[in-house]
Amino acid sequence: MENNGYRIVFLGPPGAGKGTQASLLSEKYGIKKISTGDILREAVRKGTELGKKAKKYMDAGELVPDDIIIGLIEEQIQGVDSFILDGFPRTMKQAEALDRLLSERGKPLSHVIFVNVPDEEIVKRLTARRVCPNCGAVYNMIYNPPKRDEICDVCGTPLVQRSDDREDVIRNRLKVYRESTAPLIDYYREKGIFYEVNGVGKVEEVLRRIEGVLRG
Ligand code: AP5
Repeated sequence: MENNGYRIVFLGPPGAGKGTQASLLSEKYGIKKISTGDILREAVRKGTELGKKAKKYMDAGELVPDDIIIGLIEEQIQGVDSFILDGFPRTMKQAEALDRLLSERGKPLSHVIFVNVPDEEIVKRLTARRVCPNCGAVYNMIYNPPKRDEICDVCGTPLVQRSDDREDVIRNRLKVYRESTAPLIDYYREKGIFYEVNGVGKVEEVLRRIEGVLRG
């Protein structure tokens, strides 16, 4: 699969596996992955201005204001022809801003891949997610546990739980998703670049489904 010209958005509820699949595709095909969640968490960790502004929204499972996020994406996609967006856009305003940015360059999105997973499976996955605060590796204590109890396989650092992976915050993230992000499904469907993939099943199975979509 050639990566030239792939400008992909991963859409879907929190915990659907967008980050997992975006990382696999990025590694396998050498396409730049841009994850707004990862960028924001890194900014929080480093205590930058962006991190200070974003933290309170993230901890509550609310969206960070559009103007902050749109500015961030504008920087990230500058000079990049092929990319995978994980976690952006999440509102109509973000989607319209992205369309404007890309149409100015004559290089519109090629695929919007909607990874669909039911709510109860999401709560199960997210409460069991653990992440490495050092190298960013993502595990799941049910589906993809580390070899040694809560220690990163890659770098040996003790794993942590994300501050927004508590059940009450997960429920709020799902509510915010339904109100602000789910309307993008119809927006992209009308543009003819929307593809739905069942996100339930083994990680490798879901990856095969996505590769099937990209091959056309
Ligand atoms: P963000 O980091 O983007 O969070 P999210 O969209 O809620 O998505 P997640 O990272 O929780 O899930 P995922 O779908 O990537 O799943 P993953 O692959 O990790 O955003 C966090 C916050 O930042 C937001 O709440 C907001 O405040 C802010 N933000 C970010 N972008 C923003 C934007 N554009 N606008 C405004 N605010 C923004 O998988 C989840 C778990 O399941 C893992 O444990 C994984 O190992 C496991 N798993 C993955 N695939 C499978 C499978 N097939 N079977 C079983 N388990 C699986």
